[in-house]
Amino acid sequence: MDKKKTFYITTPIYYPSASLHIGHAYSTVATDAIARYKRQRGFDTFFLTGSDEHGQKIERKAKAAGITPQQYVDDIVAGFKDLWKLLDISYDKFIRTTDDYHVKAVQKMFRQLYDQGDIYKSKYTGFYCTPCESFWLDRQVKDAGGVCPDCGGPVELVEEESYFFRLSKYADRLIQYIKDNPTFIQPTSRTNEMLQNFLLPGLEDLCVSRTSFTWGIPVDFDGKHVVYVWLDALSNYITALGWGSEDDSLYRKYWPADVHIVGKEIVRFHTIIWPIMLMALGEPLPKQVFGHGWLVLDGGKMSKSKGNVVDPVQLCARYGVDAIRYFLLREVPFGSDGTFSNEALIARINTDLANDLGNLLSRTVAMIDKYFGGALPAPGAAADEDAMLIQLASELPARVDAQMDELHIPDALAEIWKLVNACNKYIDVTAPWLLAKSDEGRERLKTVLYNLAESLRIVGVLLTPFLTSTPQKLFAQLGTADALTAYDSLAWGGSAPGAQVHKGEALFPRIDAEAELAYFAAEADKAKATLEAPAPKEEAEEEAPLPEVEYDDFAKVDLRLAKVTACEEIKKSKKLLKLTLEVGEETRTVVSGIKQWYAPEDLVGKTVVLVANLKPVTLCGVESRGMILCASDAADETLSALTTMAQMDSGLKVR
Ligand code: MSP
Repeated sequence: MDKKKTFYITTPIYYPSASLHIGHAYSTVATDAIARYKRQRGFDTFFLTGSDEHGQKIERKAKAAGITPQQYVDDIVAGFKDLWKLLDISYDKFIRTTDDYHVKAVQKMFRQLYDQGDIYKSKYTGFYCTPCESFWLDRQVKDAGGVCPDCGGPVELVEEESYFFRLSKYADRLIQYIKDNPTFIQPTSRTNEMLQNFLLPGLEDLCVSRTSFTWGIPVDFDGKHVVYVWLDALSNYITALGWGSEDDSLYRKYWPADVHIVGKEIVRFHTIIWPIMLMALGEPLPKQVFGHGWLVLDGGKMSKSKGNVVDPVQLCARYGVDAIRYFLLREVPFGSDGTFSNEALIARINTDLANDLGNLLSRTVAMIDKYFGGALPAPGAAADEDAMLIQLASELPARVDAQMDELHIPDALAEIWKLVNACNKYIDVTAPWLLAKSDEGRERLKTVLYNLAESLRIVGVLLTPFLTSTPQKLFAQLGTADALTAYDSLAWGGSAPGAQVHKGEALFPRIDAEAELAYFAAEADKAKATLEAPAPKEEAEEEAPLPEVEYDDFAKVDLRLAKVTACEEIKKSKKLLKLTLEVGEETRTVVSGIKQWYAPEDLVGKTVVLVANLKPVTLCGVESRGMILCASDAADETLSALTTMAQMDSGLKVR
């Protein structure tokens, strides 16, 4: 017997620093659909996911919560597993980086790299972004305006003894590898990004240990160091398969990975550090790293601190798992950013799922029931319009494969919907209710209903990797025998005449969009009120004194005079005003939370002080480019915007 071809696919391992949101679910549902697709096509598939539990960020969060890091992560990781269960994620293994076998294998790897001279001890002086767990060079932080180039947050200056990994030694080999393997980094635009932004400007050796905290894998030959969390995390893709352990049979079977699915901001770790680690270890490189885009909300990446996260558990409870999976897989081209909105979600559910697919099934089943007592008729008289439908259905598997093999997941679904929509048109053209009126018409009606049921069976089989309960519901209503739900039964004509259909519940109930959007608007108002509520007095009074800063740090803030040329209320918000500012030659929009203290007309014509180089944020859908300075008491009971004693031109620097 032929050995099955293997397919190894991974998600990123998620930080258990907070519960996962719909953006994380996006990554995992997409990976799940690809894994299910490969299994359906006969591949011996291994699908890995897990949690990335070490590092400074987690240590700090646990401390703030007053529990040990292990307690902290145990609780959150249990929530990850619940979410994956809810979303029907078919992973074969869940790795935790606190698992004993992983810890041992990482220690072994670190030692091997040290023994062979690829890791050496030195001192690190530079920047670190704790939320991203990233080291940054001076020039990178400078180019980004003094903040983390990835997340735009503050970076910390770190000075400590560290082990370094000789990335520089392997840089040329990696550049050559990337050039020789144009599909290694996907989508292709990300290849250029990696080469231009990181590799061609020159790679510096990477700091791979920390001494200023302890929540990590100890370097076993130098106990005060813990392994840098990204080295620890990336190794998961091979330690999960037993690399470095007594039983590495899975590693020998499945490595190299066919594809690592990752978000776009972590492509650089996976296409620079990870392949160099593998080169240094003498192991093969993964075949592909695919960087998908972000699911964004209100113009920005979701984050707890911005209060704009969408909870997948709530969405599944409201609309069902398959509706959410379908939306995630269909809405956004895989590889690009896309927006999550309730409107778009409801539109997808109502149009694609309830109308196009759900109605098609219920109409087909109802007609077989009504005209043929529930038994699928054998096809009778044929007509021209059948040929097109049959051709579309027969070609569909190959079309879906062509899209899925490029990881164009939404396009694969779009192909399936071409057949769904063709069936709906076929009903319009053939008008079964008219055919039912004559004997001759009934002969033709047999064919029409057979063709519809057979097309729906094919749709169900092809949907199986994407939706996890809908295909079964569809087969149950059509009375499809199990053997005919398999991929190798797809050839046209498989459905057996005589099969008994069963009328069932609508696959996807239609949503009253207006009522639903009103519900979401009310929920958003409640959430905004919580976010905008002034901090309790005691907390405000307990503000800790800030540490001293050097003048150089102060000078990083670009303060400018600005003249308010227009001002209006942001209707959706109780706190926000939208100001139009003249800053020298430039015009800017700034959103300020001062509605409680000023009417728009109070501000027009005034000169204010603007923090001009603050990273833009979007508030209530308006991009704010800067912040105006105000003085206020600790409880925000009185507030006054800052202005100048004399009339001065806008654009002037404040120092
Ligand atoms: N722990 C690292 C990954 C280590 S992999 C060896 C990490 N974790 S994370 O929890 O911050 O993010 C995990 C993944 O979730 C990333 O690929 C990230 O891009 C993805 N997403 C987080 N928010 C997202 C959206 N809003 N949209 C799409 N993907 C998002 O990074």
